[in-house]
This record gives sequence, C-alpha cells and structure tokens, in this order.
Amino acid sequence: MTSEQTTAARSDLTGRVVLIAGATGGLGRVTSRLFKQAGARLVLVARTHDRLEDLAASLGTPESECLLHAADLRRPAQVRALIVRVVQCFGRIDVVLNLVGSWAPGKSTTTSDERWREQLETNLFAPFHVVREAVPHMPEGGVIINVGNAEPVEGKGGQLAYAVAKGGIHTLTRSLALELKPRGIRVNAIMPRNIDTPGNRALQPHADPADWPKPEEVAEVLLYLASPRSAVITRALIPVSART
Ligand SMILES: NC(=O)c1ccc[n+]([C@@H]2O[C@H](COP(=O)([O-])OP(=O)(O)OC[C@H]3O[C@@H](n4cnc5c(N)ncnc54)[C@H](OP(=O)(O)O)[C@@H]3O)[C@@H](O)[C@H]2O)c1
Repeated sequence: MTSEQTTAARSDLTGRVVLIAGATGGLGRVTSRLFKQAGARLVLVARTHDRLEDLAASLGTPESECLLHAADLRRPAQVRALIVRVVQCFGRIDVVLNLVGSWAPGKSTTTSDERWREQLETNLFAPFHVVREAVPHMPEGGVIINVGNAEPVEGKGGQLAYAVAKGGIHTLTRSLALELKPRGIRVNAIMPRNIDTPGNRALQPHADPADWPKPEEVAEVLLYLASPRSAVITRALIPVSART
C-alpha cells in the first residue's frame, strides 16, 4: 500500500466537498495535499489565481474533483459569488477550512486605522464571510474548522490587531458551535503558535524552527477534525503547540 492509500484508508473523506480558504498559504498547500489524498473534492480559494493554478498542478487533481476560485474573502460579494459557484458545481459544502489569515505587528500606539482594519478584515471578517455564505449549504455532519492562535487572548504584546482578531476567532468558533449544534454541524478551531512555514522562516530568520510543528503535522489534526473519527468533538479550541 502506498502512503497515499494508507492516508485514505485511515480517513473517510471520499467524495466530501472541502472548501479551503487560504489554500495557497504555508499551511493551506500542505493541507490541500493531505485532503486530496483522503479523497476529498477540493475547492481551493485565495486571491492570487496563478498560485492556485500552481497548487492544483502540483496536486495533479482532475478538474472534476477540484475547483479553483480566486476571491478576496474580505469582500462579501466575492464570497457570495464563490459559494454560488461551489453549489452549482458540487451541490453542497461538507467541510470549511478557514485557513485565511495574515499577520502584522503593532502596539496600541503604533497601529494605524489601516492596519487595524486589514488585520480584522483578513483574520476575522473573511472567515466569517465564508461561514455566513457556506452554512446554508452544509448538510448534517458538516464541519467548520477555524484557525486561532495559541497565545492567550491578550497576545504576546506587540501584535494588538492580530490578537484581537484571533480572540474573535475563538469566540466565533464557540458561539457558532452552539448555534449549529442542532443542525449536526461541528465547529472547532486549532490554535497554533509558530508553524514551520516558509513565511515564518522568512519573518524570523534568526529563530530555531526545530520545535515548530511542521505544516504536515498540523494538517493531520485538521484531517482528524474534519473526519467522522472526531464526531464527538465540537466547540473545541485545540492548541497545536506541544513543543513550543
Ligand atoms: N504560520 C503560523 O505560524 C501560524 C500561527 C498561528 C496561526 N496561523 C494562522 O493559520 C492560518 C494559515 O497560516 P499560513 O501560515 O498558512 O498563512 P499564509 O502562508 O500567510 O497564507 C495565507 C493564505 O490566505 C490567503 N489570503 C490572504 N488574504 C486573503 C484574502 N483577503 N482573501 C482570500 N485569501 C486570502 C493567501 O493567498 P493570497 O495572498 O493569494 O490571497 C494564502 O493562501 C492563518 O489563519 C494564520 O493566521 C498561522
């Protein structure tokens, strides 16, 4: 059995429609590959179409099993158009992986309105827009997974807007889980600290990434949370920072 077959055997996502918001990022690329191996039908979303095409080519997924859609998820009209297209193509959305995000530093005295708005729009509004449009098309057994942050809600200091946005993600996750429980839709969030992505290595050239979780390890947690193997888990904020 190849490693791809082993992954598929352990998972149960064959035919499930999985929307990955932020699919071309450091975590998104690896996650897209793992979910493809698990048999999912992928909807890959980010703003830059070239990077989506590059990702799809690297996955070697047939067009019937993979939809590429470039959209700025901060813009509600673009999110609506995305979801209309997904429903036209696949008829439903089983799993939403909200991996969209960005990071910027800034203290109370140095955070401009522009930065405050960008951080909240990308880290909080964008995942919310996706959820708002996707939920009506999610059947019982659906799953939403958000990405918060392992730092306390107060953050580390020096990343105020980001910390506020990720604190919002934690609350969004828990409130949404309650709201959607009667419909049998589970909502959880993972909380990384540093993931060993190209972006993080570039941002922290002097840090030692030895203890940072690999994106493959984090993607395994996402796969578990997306699969029926975690059917009893909802409203959980799960740190993925055991070594840091
Ligand atoms: N890496 C870490 O150590 C770490 C730690 C804690 C939490 N997280 C969270 O984990 C998630 C994934 O992180 P990552 O390291 O993979 O991030 P990343 O490499 O920066 O990737 C971000 C992804 O989101 C897309 N994106 C950004 N803004 C967008 C927008 N307005 N509309 C649509 N797509 C947009 C990007 O593509 P385009 O630019 O082409 O749109 C890219 O695909 C994020 O929520 C991040 O905050 C990461």
